[in-house]
Amino acid sequence: MPVPVITIDGPSGTGKGTIAELLSDRLGWRCLDSGALYRVLGLAAERRGVSLDDADAVAEVAADLPVDFVSGRVLLDGEDVSEAIRTEQAGMAASRVAVHPPVRDALLQRQRAMACPPGLVADGRDMGTVVFPLAPLKIFLDASAEVRADRRYKQLKGKGLDANLPDLVEDIRARDARDRGRSVAPLCAADDAVIVDSTVMSIEAVLDRVLKEVRRVFPELVL
Ligand code: C5P
Repeated sequence: MPVPVITIDGPSGTGKGTIAELLSDRLGWRCLDSGALYRVLGLAAERRGVSLDDADAVAEVAADLPVDFVSGRVLLDGEDVSEAIRTEQAGMAASRVAVHPPVRDALLQRQRAMACPPGLVADGRDMGTVVFPLAPLKIFLDASAEVRADRRYKQLKGKGLDANLPDLVEDIRARDARDRGRSVAPLCAADDAVIVDSTVMSIEAVLDRVLKEVRRVFPELVL
């Protein structure tokens, strides 16, 4: 029996990370935050003085990236980098290393290995198109760039951090353009994905919508 996988893809700021976590908790399944892998890789490459544009050198770092996910924390070489990888700069570095085909290849098996019983919720950009193309349920979460930037703005302000809304809109547009425009595994919905636009939806409403799909595809699950 193949391990059941639910993929949740989409651009940043759509709430897919939150939905993936809530859903995996509800199901008692494992959760893969693939964006965190690319973020850690960007950080590790920068720390080793490797140019983010050097595909082969970054792929070498990716091949034996000492990353661990422990109790919701992200460890790089044993150091807790959970906060360090959440900055806008780390997001941009992640998106730069993510354009290289050898880098994506180097991270592929590591991501697939996360699929173990009873199931996996996988969050990213290419979970449904490349990493788990046979997943029985694929969700693609979208929202306007303005709303996504506004959510990020409130999140940063809520943490007492400095934030500028026009800059955030620009950052989000730049990251989207790079993610959608790259030649390998570009950000796009799989043909068989269920598209959910969260622009005017609360997290609770999105979760309800996703749970409806989960019940449809996995009628045997008690939710
Ligand atoms: O999801 P998150 O914002 O943490 O992802 C950071 C960056 O990592 C994205 O902008 C994207 O460039 C890259 N990424 C990717 N493929 C994934 C997940 C993330 O290319 N599956």
